[in-house]
Amino acid sequence: MSIYYNEVARTFTLHTKHTSYQMKVGPSNYLFHLYYGPSMTDPDLDYQIMQYDRGFSGNPYEYRNKRTFSLDALPQEFTTLQQGDFRISSIEISNSDGSYSFNGHFKDYTITKGKYKLDTLPSSFATDRDTVDSLEITLEDEISKIEVTLLYGVFEEADIITRAVKVRNNGNGRIHLKKIMSTCLDFVNGSDLEIVNLHGRYGQERNFERQRLTHHIHTISSGRGSSSHQQNPFVMLCKENTTEDAGDCYGATLVYSGNFLAEVELDQYNQARLLMGINSKQFNFILNPKDVFEAPEVLMTFTDLGFTSLSHTYHDFFRQNMCESKFVHGERPILINTWEATFFDFDDTKLIEIAKAAKNMGVELMVMDDGWFGDRMDDNAGLGDWVVNKKKIRCGLNELVKQINDIGLKFGIWFEPEMVSEDSDLYRAHPDWAMQIPGRPAVRSRNQLVLDLTRKDVQDYLIESVNAVLDSANIYYMKWDVNRSVTDIFSNELPPEQQGEVYHRYILGLYRILDGIVKTHPDILFEGCSGGGGRYDPGMLTYFPQYWNSDNTKPIDNLKLHYGTSFLYPICTMGAHVSEANPNISITTKACVAMCGTFGYELDATKLSKKEIAECRRQSRLFKKYRPIIFEGDYYRLTNPFHPGNLSAWQSVSKDKKESLISVVVTNLTVNGPQEYILAKGLNPDWFYYVDQLDMEISGSALMHIGIPIPREIPEYTSFQYHLKHKRKSNK
Ligand code: GLA
Repeated sequence: MSIYYNEVARTFTLHTKHTSYQMKVGPSNYLFHLYYGPSMTDPDLDYQIMQYDRGFSGNPYEYRNKRTFSLDALPQEFTTLQQGDFRISSIEISNSDGSYSFNGHFKDYTITKGKYKLDTLPSSFATDRDTVDSLEITLEDEISKIEVTLLYGVFEEADIITRAVKVRNNGNGRIHLKKIMSTCLDFVNGSDLEIVNLHGRYGQERNFERQRLTHHIHTISSGRGSSSHQQNPFVMLCKENTTEDAGDCYGATLVYSGNFLAEVELDQYNQARLLMGINSKQFNFILNPKDVFEAPEVLMTFTDLGFTSLSHTYHDFFRQNMCESKFVHGERPILINTWEATFFDFDDTKLIEIAKAAKNMGVELMVMDDGWFGDRMDDNAGLGDWVVNKKKIRCGLNELVKQINDIGLKFGIWFEPEMVSEDSDLYRAHPDWAMQIPGRPAVRSRNQLVLDLTRKDVQDYLIESVNAVLDSANIYYMKWDVNRSVTDIFSNELPPEQQGEVYHRYILGLYRILDGIVKTHPDILFEGCSGGGGRYDPGMLTYFPQYWNSDNTKPIDNLKLHYGTSFLYPICTMGAHVSEANPNISITTKACVAMCGTFGYELDATKLSKKEIAECRRQSRLFKKYRPIIFEGDYYRLTNPFHPGNLSAWQSVSKDKKESLISVVVTNLTVNGPQEYILAKGLNPDWFYYVDQLDMEISGSALMHIGIPIPREIPEYTSFQYHLKHKRKSNK
C-alpha cells in the first residue's frame, strides 16, 4: 500500500517512488496539509506549524479563547468558507438559507486498492503495470450537511498523485455551488517560489513563461468555453534556482476541456496556495438534496530534479495512463492533409491526384479536410449537415475511399461536430439547437454558431450523424475540429436559474458525444484540433492520442511551439506537418522540425518537383526509422528558443539509452562567430555511440560534456539530425 493512516498522529501519508505527501486531521477535525516533496518517512510533520495571534485573521468559534488558532495562517487540504481564512478558497457555496459558509471537518476515510473512477468526467486509469491505491476523505459541514469528498489516486511508479472532489448535498434544501476547486496545495513558506504557465494565442500556442510569485493572486484561466489557445490548464511552481536538470518543481494539470481556473496566492505571511479546478466565471450549479457534483481530476507531480524530470513524468503518464486508444503505442501513419493544399477548392479528381503524388512521397494516410459535406463551398455554410457534398465528391465517399485505398493510402476525414452554420439544413430545421440568448443577436465567429451540447437530442443527432459517415466507408482516421469560442451561453432546455450550469454541461455533453463516437470506433485514429491547438488539454487527450499543434506551420515558430508544449505533453501527441509556409526554408529543415511530432505533410503534393518528392521519400523513410525513439523515448530540450541563441536543438533517447536522435536547426548565423556545440543528454556516459553524420564512435560522456560541433559554413536555417547508436562499452 502506498497510503498510510497513522492512528496516533492522525496523519495520512501517501508515497510514490520518489515523493511523499502528508496531511493531518488536526484540532477540531480540521484537515491540514503538511507536506508534498521528496520521499520522507516522518510519521507526523506537524512540528513545522507555528501559531501566533494573528490580528484580523479570526478564530473559529471553538477557538474563541485561543487566539493563536487561525485558519488564515494554517496550511489546509481543502479550505473552509467564512471561518477566518481570507485567502483564495476551494469552494464557494450559497446554502439553502442564503449564507455562504462551509465549515468542513473530517468525517471519515477509506483506502482502497486500484484507482477511483469518476462517473461523469474522464480521468486517468491504472494498467496492469501500475500499483495504484486510492484514498477518499470526507469532510462535512455539520450545520448544512454538505459533504465534500476528497479523492486521491496514488500512482506509485509514475510519481503521480491525482486529486478530484465530489460535493454532495445531504441537506434538505437546494444549494448553489459557485466555485469548486479540485486541488488545493498549501506551502507554509512560498517566498522563493516561481510560477510557470503556457500562454498563447491563435497561431502561437503554449509559450513558456516564468515569473516570481509576488504578493497577490496569480490567475491562469480560460473563460472561453474551452481550455483555449490563450492559456493551457497547466501550472508549475518551482524554485528560483530550478533548471532543466536540477531543482524543485511541482506540476498540476487539469483533466478538463472547458473553462478552468488556476490561482496561486502569495499571502501576507509568505504562505503560498495553489488551487486548480473549474472556472467560477458564469458558474452556478444547483444541487438539490442528494445531488452530487464531480469536479475534474488534477494530475500532480513533484520532482527535485528539474523540468526535464517533471516533463518525463507527465510524458510517461500520458502515454500509459490517460488514453485507451490502441494508437497511443501503435503505428501512426505519415499523413498528408488537404487543408493548406486546396482549402475548400477540391473535388474527387483533385484528391486522387494528390493521393497519387503523396504515395510517391512515402505518405501512408490521406486526410480530406474541411469542405466535403453539406453545401460547404466556403466557411459560411454547411456545418451541421454531415452528408457528402455530391458536387465535390461525385463518386460518393465509399468509392473515393476505395480509390484512395487502391493507390495504397489509408483514408481520413475532417469533422467539426460542435458547430452549426445558419446556412445549413440543420439550422433551418432546428434553430433552437444553436446557443443564442432569446432576444439578443448572438456573437458570430467564423460566421458560425455553437450547438447546445447540453441537450440530449443534439448529442444524439451528432453521435448518429457522425457515426453514419464513419461507418459508411473504410475510414482510418478522423480529425475532430472546433473553430470558435463559446459565447451566448444559454440553453433553451434549462430554466433561468440553471443557466449558470451551461458551460459545464456543455463539456459533459461533449464527453458523452465523444464516448459515443470515439469509444465505439476503437480502430479509428482520432486527432483533436481547435483552430490548431486551442483545446489541447489532458481531457481531450483521454480520447485523442494526437492533437493538431497549431494552424501556424512555420518551422521557426514551431520551434517555440514544440518547446513549450513539451513541458507537459509527449511528442507522440503533437500533430506537426511540413507545409508551404516559409518558402525560404528548405523542405529538409521543415521535415526535421515536423519530426518533433506525429509528422506529416500539408501541401499540394502535385506541385512538388521530382527532387522534392525524392527528398520527401527520404524523410518518410527516416521518420519510420526514428519513429519508435521519438514516440516512445525520453525527450530532452537542449536549448531554449525563447532565449537569444543561434541554434535550436532537442533530443530523443530510447528508454534503454541505446539509441538517440539529436535534431538541430541553425536559426541565426553570426558573422565570423564562435564555434558552437550541442551537448547531448540522457546517454550512458560509459557507452560508445556511433554518430552517423560524423561517421565515428564517441563516448556518451564526450557527447554530453564536449558535445557535437555544429558546422558554421552553411546557409541559415540548415538543420542536422544526428542518429546515435550504442556500439560498445568503454575500455576503462
Ligand atoms: C481549423 C484547423 C485547420 C483546418 C481548418 C478547416 O483552422 O485548425 O487545420 O482543419 O480548421 O476549416
